[in-house]
Amino acid sequence: MRIIVTGGAGFIGSHIVDAYLALGHDVLVLDSLWEHGGGRRQNVPERASFVHMDIRDQNLARIFSEYKPEVVCHHAAQHSVAISARDPRYDADVNVLGLINVLEQAVKAQTRKVIFASSGATFGTPDALPIRETTAQRPTSPYGITKMVAEHYLRFFKAEHGLDFTALRYGNVYGPRQDPNGEAGVVSIFIGKFLQKQGVRIDWDGEQTRDYVYVKDVARLNVLALERGSGNCYCIGTNQRTSVNQIYRSLVEITGFQAPVTPGPKRAGDARDAQFDYALARRDLDWEPQTHLIDGMRETYEYFREQMKFA
Ligand SMILES: NC(=O)c1ccc[n+]([C@@H]2O[C@H](COP(=O)([O-])OP(=O)(O)OC[C@H]3O[C@@H](n4cnc5c(N)ncnc54)[C@H](O)[C@@H]3O)[C@@H](O)[C@H]2O)c1
Repeated sequence: MRIIVTGGAGFIGSHIVDAYLALGHDVLVLDSLWEHGGGRRQNVPERASFVHMDIRDQNLARIFSEYKPEVVCHHAAQHSVAISARDPRYDADVNVLGLINVLEQAVKAQTRKVIFASSGATFGTPDALPIRETTAQRPTSPYGITKMVAEHYLRFFKAEHGLDFTALRYGNVYGPRQDPNGEAGVVSIFIGKFLQKQGVRIDWDGEQTRDYVYVKDVARLNVLALERGSGNCYCIGTNQRTSVNQIYRSLVEITGFQAPVTPGPKRAGDARDAQFDYALARRDLDWEPQTHLIDGMRETYEYFREQMKFA
């Protein structure tokens, strides 16, 4: 199958590229290597083609018409909640107008399906946990708003042009290659500090929880979505809550290093808890997370330790 992975030089996208290539698919990565994103040219394997391009670029038409992808796996995005709050116009430009450019070119190239990286951020602070597909989406950031709007555009393009889609509302994805300098990945941020024998900052009281899902489980999900989950949106997590303090304690166990802790304030708009029931994804996509958090954290730690040797 010929597949374009937008954002394929980034953290999640590059693991999806690996999974597609392993199955013998033909992959083209389209990525702008955005300065505030986690995209790196070296994340793209040699067997994949690489086009350095912004998803908003009008030249996208040429790439799509020449390559004729059967599926587009759309992971390129402005993914920072903080940037979206400071600059909602930029966020909408990339996450809405960029998406529309991708969808229009996909229709012209007779692409069968788009797999879309949506987000748990589309739910904001829910009334009850766990979050399911029936939970009301009330996003509290421009980023959450544009991800939710994107899902509506996907529905429109399917109804109007027959372009199929599956939208995956990820919880907190973690694993190798996640940018340790980013804002989203507490696991990689903490691992970076532990490896440099530095202290970590724990905001609020550290008892706030998130649903951490391993990136290789997410890559396998994107393989299943090539053929399943037509026209639907799915909550993706482990249906478990883990506090920041638990992440810290697990890293102390893995590394044997008791990193000093500095308490920090509650960040504006931070939700207390998140937990995603993935029952619908299990039913429709035959997907379940397989990696226990402690094992995924160990693999991530080993990855960053190796990386440090060559830094
Ligand atoms: N990491 C998470 O926990 C998480 C959770 C929910 C949703 N998501 C979504 O998953 C996707 C991938 O996120 P990630 O964590 O791998 O981040 P990432 O920054 O590592 O990957 C995003 C990639 O998109 C590229 N990109 C950004 N703007 C672009 C543009 N205008 N044109 C072309 N390429 C552009 C970046 O260069 C980068 O390689 C994003 O859509 C994000 O919103 C991530």
